[in-house]
Amino acid sequence: DKAQQAASKRNAGYHAAEMIKDGMVIGLGTGSTVFFAMERLGERIAEDGLSITGVPTSYQAAIRARRYGIPLSSLDEHPKLDTAIDGADQADPDLRLIKGRGAALLREKCVCDAAREVLIVVDPTKMVETLNAPVPVEVLPFASAPVSRRLAALGASPVLREGVKKDGPVVTDNGNFILDCDFGAIMDPESLETAIAAIPGALECGLFTAYREKITVIVGEEKGCRVV
Ligand code: A5P
Repeated sequence: DKAQQAASKRNAGYHAAEMIKDGMVIGLGTGSTVFFAMERLGERIAEDGLSITGVPTSYQAAIRARRYGIPLSSLDEHPKLDTAIDGADQADPDLRLIKGRGAALLREKCVCDAAREVLIVVDPTKMVETLNAPVPVEVLPFASAPVSRRLAALGASPVLREGVKKDGPVVTDNGNFILDCDFGAIMDPESLETAIAAIPGALECGLFTAYREKITVIVGEEKGCRVV
């Protein structure tokens, strides 16, 4: 239930926050599980004088970080990050991910690439044997029709993401659209990620398959957590 899931998310987030050391520059991901990590980092800053700098992956992450007193910077200042804390929508046993429910995947992948290590914080519902959630693709609005046709040729039926409290398409923090692409069970995520990356106007997709060596998945449980 909801309370159980919140406890799992909190345990994952807090565990990641405890792994952060003084002086680190860290990427700050988007979503509700990362919020818990930021909450704990805020406490450590206030209570223990922890000194860190955050690079936010979205307006949402930046707004939260400010609330928790986490000083912010950018990839311009810090092209290399010590670590990043981020959520995911699905993770498989080989530490391949689907991200982007929050529409922050483009900056999240830039931050993941820039980080030496990446802590992915999830609740147990995110762990799957085979990735099968819809893959969000951030698309240049100018090219959304041809990109949509190319994605359909790869086997999806792309759906333009629309707002809940807004009429019309969701516009990302970068001014682009999101196409949610259901490919069913994804047997070869690496090839699919490569194929999507080759489409002009498809700016990034939510498959993260190239960072397995630096990813640690922290699965929060009702009590404590499990590190994969
Ligand atoms: C944002 O675009 C996503 O990649 C998030 O990291 C993901 O949706 C996780 O969100 P929750 O922690 O709220 O599930």
